Amino acid sequence: MVGKFVTIEGCEGVGKSTQIKLLQEYMQTTSQEAIFTREPGGTEISERIRTIILSETSIIHPLVEAYLFASARADHMLNTVLPALELGKNVFCDRFIDSSLSYQGIARDLGVDVVLEINKHALCGRTPDCTIFLDMRPENSWRRQKGKSVSDDRMEHESDAFHNKVYNGFIQIRNKYPDRYISIVPQENKQETHILIINALRKKGYIK
Ligand code: TYD
Repeated sequence: MVGKFVTIEGCEGVGKSTQIKLLQEYMQTTSQEAIFTREPGGTEISERIRTIILSETSIIHPLVEAYLFASARADHMLNTVLPALELGKNVFCDRFIDSSLSYQGIARDLGVDVVLEINKHALCGRTPDCTIFLDMRPENSWRRQKGKSVSDDRMEHESDAFHNKVYNGFIQIRNKYPDRYISIVPQENKQETHILIINALRKKGYIK
């Protein structure tokens, strides 16, 4: 049986990495096999592309940025995601196509259809079975509330207006693909958020 492909999306600083770590620990302690990966990244080539895209010194036209994310995605699909799914493993991916649609398509104004067109072959005919969206506005993010500093990547240094556009972009994409979206509102207590995620995935029958 082919594995399930679950993507995890959301704005910066909303606790996505923490939740992915908790999910990974849960899968390990309950002896459920799964692959955890990320975009851009997840293969040697894609990690190298990631360095180019996120480098603070890179000056990249939005169109080129979209193609770079798509080429990193193609390599990731061909060498990591599809082989694992075919072996029957579930794949959990930190960001995927919806980040391209929100960041490049909407926030960078390339248009959702253009970004879908760019990604047509990169997806290798596979879309996520489900997308967990951590539904939190960037201005309310834990990072903001706790006054944490941002890392040195190009995207994180974008303006508040840009990050608001990304959030609105995700809402637009969720409305476009309502069947595969699971929205989770991050709770103050990270364990509570973790339980919401676990319960949603159990309800789908993707995990035990
Ligand atoms: P990362 O450090 O992984 O961000 P985060 O911890 O918030 O997930 O950096 C990935 C950045 O790349 C993030 O700002 C989102 C952006 N991105 C796009 O703009 N388009 C894409 O297709 C993907 C996958 C990511």
